[in-house]
Amino acid sequence: MREGDKMNSARRAAIRMVNGLVLLDLRIGITSVLHRYYVGGGPDFASFGHVLIERAQGVGKVLGQGGRVAVPPRGKQLGWYYGMLGAGRRTMFDIDRFVSDCRDAVDRDPTHKAAAEVVKRAMSDPSGVMTALGEPTEPGITPLYQSADLTILNLAWRPSFTVPPHNHEMWAVIGIYGGREDNIFWRRIKDHPDGLIEAAGARALSTGDVCPMGPDIIHSVTNPIPRLTAAIHVYGGDFFEAERSEWEPEGLVEKPYDMEAMRTRFGK
Ligand SMILES: [Fe+2]
Repeated sequence: MREGDKMNSARRAAIRMVNGLVLLDLRIGITSVLHRYYVGGGPDFASFGHVLIERAQGVGKVLGQGGRVAVPPRGKQLGWYYGMLGAGRRTMFDIDRFVSDCRDAVDRDPTHKAAAEVVKRAMSDPSGVMTALGEPTEPGITPLYQSADLTILNLAWRPSFTVPPHNHEMWAVIGIYGGREDNIFWRRIKDHPDGLIEAAGARALSTGDVCPMGPDIIHSVTNPIPRLTAAIHVYGGDFFEAERSEWEPEGLVEKPYDMEAMRTRFGK
């Protein structure tokens, strides 16, 4: 049967028909659920008028890991089938969906790993992210989500801007959807009384790249290109409230991180 899609509103609800199934995708705020109604024939499916409620994006993977919704054995079989349908179809980046997927990822895996998969999926289509978020016209930090265990930021870095060495005290996943971020990674000099650091490595991140960082990472970041760089940063904590350090860029001496000063410098 031919597939048809009907969007009831831009980001709130979508109904589509696939092989006799009515798939109703509802989103309320950051909550995203996919309702799948069986409306065709087949005695095997007769008892599943309203079969599954699952996250829409990456539903195949969620179900493959066992999912969170208790369904009868037959329902699990259906879930796999529907999951394959969902996984095989690339959907355009959607901000609410992305935030919801990150939220779900952290709920089921407090490490960076599940969230990194969500970011990788988004960055597989960086132009789609750019379209959804809009090409930045000025530098700035825009929070997309903030809670005690998850922060999602949309950043636009001005040309040649450098953030001095700093740590996060939480894991991070960086995804670039336009431009470059050049990272220098630093390590503490063992037992140094001033918390001095030394360079330990570097990584240039280009459009489409995703870079997970552990909670102990210290890095400095430069936008080396003559235009704004656009990135999504996901953090496994409250990025704005956590106490952490930065290092004075000339002497590399440790001091408390000054969030307000950084935001001011970032936006100039
Ligand atoms: Fe950072």
